[in-house]
Amino acid sequence: VSSILVDSYGRKHTYLRISLTEKCNLRCKYCMPEEGVELTPSPELLTTEEIVRLASIFVDAGVNKIRLTGGEPTIRKDLEEICAQLTGLDGLKTLAMTTNGVALSRRLEGLQVAGLSQLNISLDTMVDEKFEVLTRRKGLCKVLRSIETALELGYDPVKINCVVMRGFNDDEILDFVELTRERPINVRFIEFMPFDGNVWNSKKMVSYAEMISIVRCHYPNLYRLRDNSSDTAKNFQVEGFKGSVSFITSMTDNFCSGCNRVRLMADGNLKVCLFGPAEVSLRDAVRSSIPDEGIRHIIGCAVKRKKASHAGMFEIARTQNRPMIHIGG
Ligand code: GTP
Ligand code: 5AD
Ligand code: SF4
Repeated sequence: VSSILVDSYGRKHTYLRISLTEKCNLRCKYCMPEEGVELTPSPELLTTEEIVRLASIFVDAGVNKIRLTGGEPTIRKDLEEICAQLTGLDGLKTLAMTTNGVALSRRLEGLQVAGLSQLNISLDTMVDEKFEVLTRRKGLCKVLRSIETALELGYDPVKINCVVMRGFNDDEILDFVELTRERPINVRFIEFMPFDGNVWNSKKMVSYAEMISIVRCHYPNLYRLRDNSSDTAKNFQVEGFKGSVSFITSMTDNFCSGCNRVRLMADGNLKVCLFGPAEVSLRDAVRSSIPDEGIRHIIGCAVKRKKASHAGMFEIARTQNRPMIHIGG
């Protein structure tokens, strides 16, 4: 890994998350306010060509995994083309995507052909009425169909992201664990995190400790799997089940010391920490016709300024950040 991607704590940033759009076909309450968010005018969004150019600079510097996010990445009509071009970058090992799954099923085969190798699908409830309340839209059956399609196409595991919120879906935790009995599904229970406009409060958050005790109580034979050092998730499996169960503990037990991620947002800003407000525009850099070396310098400076860890949940809740819909997780 080139030194530009190594921060002052020695962390190597080999994982780039690219937000492809600020738009979404859902309106999840944990992600954006009722009234929606202000969209960046389209001339200020990265073009496909600019995305690929920036990605290639990152891959040349040592990034080996790219995750496409949004907003909702399937909103992009040229998603297959973007995937194909990124897959072609020499040195990229994994091309992943996080999606809400609503508009995925019919396109997934084409995306797989274009090189999409890992898939995380958001699903927070399996009850129709609750899905509509949370996402302010319909679409549960389409998401479920996309999960089936992903399994049929051989994605293994298919990861399901479930943000757990007290009084909303904490009663479905065991139903989600059941999804892992017969199929290679990795259900990931996520602690609810504060972002601008999502009306977070600590009482709505269900902690890792609470979640695991609910699961353990019903499945005493839950055992820990080995995690990779830069995983966001603590991984477990119920003995005899095909799939696995994980917990993403950003709030009560952060995993910042193993962080290997940087984020390129749809407007071309680089964000080195999900919760760090610091941003630098790579769009302005690519448009000012400075050579790759200059862009590498800007990236290197931003990475070197990355903090050791985020500031803790109450501090985060007080600090201005972007809404989740702009960051892409
Ligand atoms: P994998 O690449 O499969 O490990 O996925 P991921 O967990 O990196 O990404 P995904 O988009 O599926 O996000 C799952 C949850 O992890 C979301 O709630 C994200 O906001 C959160 N997450 C992803 N990256 C980070 C990070 O760097 N820091 C923190 N605190 N949370 C993160
Ligand atoms: N807290 C935790 N996770 C969140 N996500 C979106 N908003 C939040 C939040 N406030 C998750 C979604 C999606 C991923 C990119 O981030 O479940 O799968
Ligand atoms: Fe859209 Fe994802 Fe945000 Fe839900 S979490 S509104 S699916 S971007």
